[in-house]
Amino acid sequence: MSNEAKLELDGKVFTLPTVEGSEGEKAVDVSSLRANTNYITLDDGYGNTGSCISKVTFIDGDKGVLRYRGIPIEEMAEKSNFIETAFLIIYGDLPNRPQLKKFSNLLTANQFLHEDMKFHFEGFPTGAHPMAILSAMINAASCFDEGLMNWKWGKNTEFDVYVARLISQVRTIAAYSYRKSKGLPLIYPKQNYKYTANFLHMMFSMPYEDFEIKPEVVKALDLIFLLHADHEQNCSTSTVRMVASSQANLFASCAAGVCALWGPLHGGANQAVLEMLEDIHRSGDDGSKFITAAKDKNSGKKLMGFGHRVYKNHDPRATIIKKACDDVLAKLNISDPLLDIAKKLEEAALKDSYFVERKLYPNVDFYSGIIMRAIGIPMEMFTVIFAIGRMPGWIANYKEIMDEPKSRIYRPRQIYTGRTINNYVPLEARK
Ligand code: SDX
Repeated sequence: MSNEAKLELDGKVFTLPTVEGSEGEKAVDVSSLRANTNYITLDDGYGNTGSCISKVTFIDGDKGVLRYRGIPIEEMAEKSNFIETAFLIIYGDLPNRPQLKKFSNLLTANQFLHEDMKFHFEGFPTGAHPMAILSAMINAASCFDEGLMNWKWGKNTEFDVYVARLISQVRTIAAYSYRKSKGLPLIYPKQNYKYTANFLHMMFSMPYEDFEIKPEVVKALDLIFLLHADHEQNCSTSTVRMVASSQANLFASCAAGVCALWGPLHGGANQAVLEMLEDIHRSGDDGSKFITAAKDKNSGKKLMGFGHRVYKNHDPRATIIKKACDDVLAKLNISDPLLDIAKKLEEAALKDSYFVERKLYPNVDFYSGIIMRAIGIPMEMFTVIFAIGRMPGWIANYKEIMDEPKSRIYRPRQIYTGRTINNYVPLEARK
């Protein structure tokens, strides 16, 4: 069977090659379309457009499959941890013992920010959203680094150092962003703490008393980071690739990813879910009124944490997080009425034709906020936690573009529907 596409336009037939991925995904390669037909494709929201070929993450939205470098997310969640997962996603394989030791040492060696960064934190008003601080401070951190200021593809002999520096410092910046937004003194990382424990230490310790690092809390947060580590060409990762394609430096590209992630339709949804659950709880609604509103386009309400552009079946991450919710709350002996409301909303939605017909299921954000709330992460930090988790995925996608010899700057076309040729009208002649 021909693996070519035939396109008939203006009475002529054009042949376009097709591409098939390792999991059987198929695409029509339209790279030659404009040159041969003077037509471009148009695909609002890129729902039918592949922007790249990638080897990092595979998602099958119909089957609810998610794999990092081929390993099912369920296995990674059960057997791995965030730092090992970060290495796998960025470098392509699970690290052996020497590789893991070297990576861990690089993370520890790069966890401090330049002391002068403190002056930048001083500039933010108390109450500034930590996502605004995070994106600004990732770029600010690069100003203290000559290699990033003189970034040249092919000349970055120490790319692995920048990978570790960004993964390590994003956590330090995030913790400092929180402390700054609460007017609290900054807490420095400890040399002997592992990644996630150190983040909790920097978030919650005080100069006079170290925060008690509970293993079940570290495990739950580490799982949240791991489950968010990559998700193929989502809005923020595509943003990182867009910026990376101009050969901007690694920190600048990932700072752009933070901005894209902040939106409530994307990474900001975890905070929006908690706000929704709190509103429902406060109103005394058992969720049924909200479900009705979420189906009404004029209500301005959506069932946040539900729906996904790719998953038309359960988001496997939501299934894992929902179970982890029950485990963590049981271990911490917490009963959270918002979890009960979330479960009622899910149960009602999964039986409601509006959601069923539109294949709307819980996504990663539906339950993640409840775990984060249970382990003491403040709501305004939920999307920052998502950004820390997604950093390895953003870096891996940056690296794919940088390592591809045929990389080109991303420059989509458009169809112009504005005024046709017009002339300048002097001020005195304007109505
Ligand atoms: C993430 O891309 C990724 O991989 C993202 C992510 C990742 O790991 O990077 O998985 C993380 O961002 C998860 C998504 C978090 N966002 C939310 O939970 C916000 C609520 N969800 C929706 O806004 C929406 O479902 C999106 C943004 C997630 C997907 O939007 P689409 O694909 O553009 O779908 P759509 O808006 O065209 O919806 C199709 C229909 C519409 O109704 P009709 O016009 O057909 O009548 O479904 C309806 C929508 O109104 N709909 C919802 C709904 N989501 C879609 N109705 C009520 N509540 C919802 N949540």
